[in-house]
Amino acid sequence: MRRAVILAGTGAIGWATARRLVADDWNVVVTGRNPEKIPAGLAELGAEFVPADRHDPVKLGAVVGPGADLLVDCACYTAAHASALVPLLGDVSSTVMISSKAVYVDDEGRHVNSEEPPRFELPITENQPTLQPSEVDYDSAEGYGPNKVAAEEVLLDSGYPVTVLRPSKVHGAWSRRPREWVFVKRILDKRDVLFLARRGEGADHPSAAVNIAALVEVVGRKPRRQILNIADPDCPSGRAIASVIATYLGHAWEEVLLEAGAAPGLGAHPWDSIPPVVLDCTAARQLGYESVGDYEATVRDELDWLVACANDSRTRHVLPSKDDPYFAAMTDYGKEDEYLGRHTT
Ligand SMILES: NC(=O)c1ccc[n+]([C@@H]2O[C@H](COP(=O)([O-])OP(=O)(O)OC[C@H]3O[C@@H](n4cnc5c(N)ncnc54)[C@H](OP(=O)(O)O)[C@@H]3O)[C@@H](O)[C@H]2O)c1
Repeated sequence: MRRAVILAGTGAIGWATARRLVADDWNVVVTGRNPEKIPAGLAELGAEFVPADRHDPVKLGAVVGPGADLLVDCACYTAAHASALVPLLGDVSSTVMISSKAVYVDDEGRHVNSEEPPRFELPITENQPTLQPSEVDYDSAEGYGPNKVAAEEVLLDSGYPVTVLRPSKVHGAWSRRPREWVFVKRILDKRDVLFLARRGEGADHPSAAVNIAALVEVVGRKPRRQILNIADPDCPSGRAIASVIATYLGHAWEEVLLEAGAAPGLGAHPWDSIPPVVLDCTAARQLGYESVGDYEATVRDELDWLVACANDSRTRHVLPSKDDPYFAAMTDYGKEDEYLGRHTT
């Protein structure tokens, strides 16, 4: 049986990839740090969970050392992380490193995490220039992209058949930052009003974990040194995403479409990118990849998971806490009520 190892595979990409590979008769090993947050169903699937920090060289060697037909690394953020992997790749047939569209840079040096939004020629192909590699803190807006570039370079220069995948905004069950929670929480809280900054017209290409998994399966059969964008067949705006979610969960709300210049933070949502960010996935399709579905079809899995976890005290802990600043800022009902109070008197 073919052996696949998914490093840091207990999140959205790992869970979707494990399911996809098991269905294709792979023997799958998944690593993660916290046994309390591994996807329910992983064991029933027949996948093996190995508690191992990706950045512990001894544990990394123990899990990859026996060799693998396919290795998927979901936690390779720096040149040092990549360098730790290279000595183990001699016994790996195909390696997939999950990078990010955050590596791309426009003519003015802007990128998706810079203060001023980038202006790319759309859709962005893999030939778009990338940031200069750097070792500033990878867990920062300025450091994330340059460190991913540095990690990509180490692996691509290793001489092994390494595929670098560049997804955009990942969605899927077991995501550690399930962005759709911004709208799902609002629905569970029975809010009958939805504020959208900049009329909800911003768009930032979603990448379904199940679509990433479909491409990983192709790469598992066709090892080679390459870089591939991966995103959904469509790129809905934030307003369209909210509508898909509300419709699926049977909720109705009144939209408040804010013009640019409204109070800071009001109507903020994760897809508020203007100009939009759209990836070209022609290269993946040419390799034989076929998407599982568009955003509306593929997001349902995550929505069901979010609602199920929220409604069960035993699983609520896997969702973002109410103090998580990322989500708290986008579900600030007080700010909205203040706005409504001002405007309804
Ligand atoms: N999410 C996005 O929108 C997005 C976009 C572009 C690229 N990416 C890339 O995608 C990769 C992340 O994949 P994902 O979206 O599936 O992540 P995710 O949903 O955040 O899940 C990551 C999983 O990895 C585990 N993990 C984290 N650090 C680990 C470590 N040091 N050792 C072992 N396990 C570890 C976590 O579980 P424990 O904490 O329990 O270990 C978590 O379950 C990253 O390389 C990221 O740069 C993500």
